[in-house]
Amino acid sequence: MPSFKPTKLWNAEPHTLAKIEIVRRYLFLWFRILGTSNNRLAYLDGFSGPGRYLNSQQSSPTAALTAAKAALDALSSLGRAPKEWLFYFIERENQFASNLRNVISETTWPKEFNWDVRTGTFEEKLSGILDELKKLPNGMPPTFVFIDPFGATGVPFTHVAEILKHRSCEVLINLDSDGIGRLAAAQSVEKNKAHLDAIFGGQMWEDRLEVRAPMLTLCSQVLALYKERLRSLPNVDYNFAFAMKTKQGTLNYHLVFASQNPLGLKKMKEAMKAVDKSGSYSFSDDTVGQRRLWDFSDPEQPANRMLETLGGSWRPYKDYEDFALNETPFENPKSMFQHLKSKGKMEVQWLGQPSRTGFPEERIKAIKLNP
Ligand SMILES: C[S@@+](CC[C@H](N)C(=O)[O-])C[C@H]1O[C@@H](n2cnc3c(N)ncnc32)[C@H](O)[C@@H]1O
Repeated sequence: MPSFKPTKLWNAEPHTLAKIEIVRRYLFLWFRILGTSNNRLAYLDGFSGPGRYLNSQQSSPTAALTAAKAALDALSSLGRAPKEWLFYFIERENQFASNLRNVISETTWPKEFNWDVRTGTFEEKLSGILDELKKLPNGMPPTFVFIDPFGATGVPFTHVAEILKHRSCEVLINLDSDGIGRLAAAQSVEKNKAHLDAIFGGQMWEDRLEVRAPMLTLCSQVLALYKERLRSLPNVDYNFAFAMKTKQGTLNYHLVFASQNPLGLKKMKEAMKAVDKSGSYSFSDDTVGQRRLWDFSDPEQPANRMLETLGGSWRPYKDYEDFALNETPFENPKSMFQHLKSKGKMEVQWLGQPSRTGFPEERIKAIKLNP
């Protein structure tokens, strides 16, 4: 995705509106779930934008506030709503920050909501906000951070790692894998080195990216390395990416989600599934260059990848569950097991009698997939 530096309001592309809808749907679920057991929740939008588009009133800040209001209404009816909902919006451009303040002020939000638009860069403002959150009574509240830059730069890995240090914090990142690939492949890579070191949090990209490979291969490598970096962080066991493409199959960007909780990943997939895919964009798994659309109903390809990755030895159910969550559109491995079983490529060691009704995990001792 080429870098874009608007100076006035712009039109949102269909994939942008789909991205905002995913954020809105996910946040409603996230606020509802965490709101039952927390007195305070926070949302941080690192690249907030002006709050509306020429062709749409929707934006990530309004989506977050609207989702929170719906969750607050639902939780209030159960008598367990958080008392404080904090929203931090960071925007570099003065005029967009002030537009965003105006947009948010047009609506009367619940008295529990506390919002603040900060003018500046994500890089400058993040640590101050995290410090404020950490100093709250009971410490850092569960915080969802949406990081949605234009282009490849402005999101140091150290900042992402700082957010994910906290147990109930999650991030959704718009990763410009194509732009990052171009930085690495540039003739004058020397001047991009500092950017690339910041993006990956070190110099490992120098060994891992084949800068002369075709751009689509390089994009795959960028994404794979980025996911690996996320997964190297303590407790960040669940991360998942999908490609946002045009209908013609050109890559726009990857949306990368990282969480410490499998439920977060399940709910993110639910939000993606629910978003209308009839617009002029398409979702795809994160395999760049192959026009494999997300197919939430056909387990064949992901089952074959699971076989390639985990086949040949006896493993506990959890290994397959983590693979399903992190690497496939599915929330669990069961439809892929059905597929592999029908091909005679799977053996199960049961605890007691074999199950006749699928794959109840509590009855499974180990599973082996056979090529
Ligand atoms: C892709 S737009 C955000 C769209 C918004 N998240 C939404 O879904 O409606 C990126 C925004 O980030 C702002 N921006 C650019 N560089 C920034 C930086 N380093 N820190 C914070 N904001 C930045 C741009 O001015 C632009 O408004």
